[in-house]
Amino acid sequence: MTTSMTINGKKHDVDVEGDMPLLWFLRDNLEFTGTKYGCGAGLCGACTVHVDGVATRSCITPVASLAGKKITTIEGLSENGDHPLQKAWLNNNVPQCGYCQAGQIMNAASLLTTNPSPSSDEIDNAMQGNICRCGTYQRIKKAISDAADELATEVS
Ligand code: FES
Ligand code: FES
Repeated sequence: MTTSMTINGKKHDVDVEGDMPLLWFLRDNLEFTGTKYGCGAGLCGACTVHVDGVATRSCITPVASLAGKKITTIEGLSENGDHPLQKAWLNNNVPQCGYCQAGQIMNAASLLTTNPSPSSDEIDNAMQGNICRCGTYQRIKKAISDAADELATEVS
């Protein structure tokens, strides 16, 4: 069965088993390896991408459910790696091993799309399902706050 979807701005006619998880397709077929496999069960957030702008766990999202959808991975978040979150991540030296970070950024980007000026509690609530085994949570939170400040400056 062929499923058509747009991935990072490019249309794809995907001809794989419909129950293949999106994560497998992204990594193995398209070599978008920025999206990581952590738990494979929707529990850690390492595999987070956007589906029509909403943070989605690609490890538990079957390809067949994505007909006509727009998928964005970390590779497609910005043209030159200059999304305000990516800049704030660099400025705050957020990553340690880095494994969880693409998922963290994609989840944070979805948050800022719906809530460009989140409170401290709102950041905590939105990010609580994204696990970082290296414990970079404080830097992640600071970077999200900095990115929100930059977005507010851009708007004003
Ligand atoms: S790998 Fe998908 S939530 Fe953990
Ligand atoms: S930076 Fe290592 S798991 Fe998050």
